[in-house]
Amino acid sequence: MRGRVGLFNCRMQDNTVQIVAPEEFGVTAVNLLESVLVERPNALVVLPTGNTPLPLYAELRRRKVGAMRVAMLDDYYDAASLTTNSYHWLRREVLDSLNIGDERVLRIPTAPGNLPAACAEYESALARAGGCDLIFLGLGPNGHIGFNEPGSAVDSRTRMVTLSEATADANADYWQGAYRPRAAVTMGMGTILEARRVCLLVRGRNKSTALRAALEGPEAPDVPASFLRRARELTVIADRACLK
Ligand code: F6R
Repeated sequence: MRGRVGLFNCRMQDNTVQIVAPEEFGVTAVNLLESVLVERPNALVVLPTGNTPLPLYAELRRRKVGAMRVAMLDDYYDAASLTTNSYHWLRREVLDSLNIGDERVLRIPTAPGNLPAACAEYESALARAGGCDLIFLGLGPNGHIGFNEPGSAVDSRTRMVTLSEATADANADYWQGAYRPRAAVTMGMGTILEARRVCLLVRGRNKSTALRAALEGPEAPDVPASFLRRARELTVIADRACLK
């Protein structure tokens, strides 16, 4: 599983870039998760929403890998007032099929009110849970990570954010235009970088520019994904289309 692939000329110490065929994508990601679960059967794992992780979730459902605890990466602001939100999406795609009940899910707070305090409490809850063992992430075409849009600081924490027009449009597409989110709550880049392992999942030709910027460009807030090179252990699982 370990070992470097010299396709990307970036400063990556112990990190791994795995370029896989599309049909190997989900299997490779679940193999990584299972290697973490061997060490820590009730590992705290962060799961993203979106198109990229769908093969991972299909493979998780097929293999019934479900001993872990789950923490949420992000959700829309005031998610409980919406018929469509990331929590419902995760329930439908993965949590229900794996029988992961709410007692094993840390939900990111999004309710109006004292959101900064709730976000700080979320960070404390992650720490009380032992910290994140593995965070899976998708990559935004603009280099965003979670809902950390360009401009996000390397030490940013869980907080409310305003979505860029492009991200709002992309999220409206997920819901067939029925809802266009403008605000969200996300784990910060600093929160993410505290995880024991980070796995960036990248699929599709429209991510190639962002992937190159993340792995080869300067580490800077205009490409939040570039900060992932500072992760304690980073694995990038990318399909071949990203290399185009
Ligand atoms: C979703 C999330 C986003 C997506 C990213 C890529 O929870 O945090 O950062 O991972 O926008 O989305 P897809 O996978 O749909 O291309």
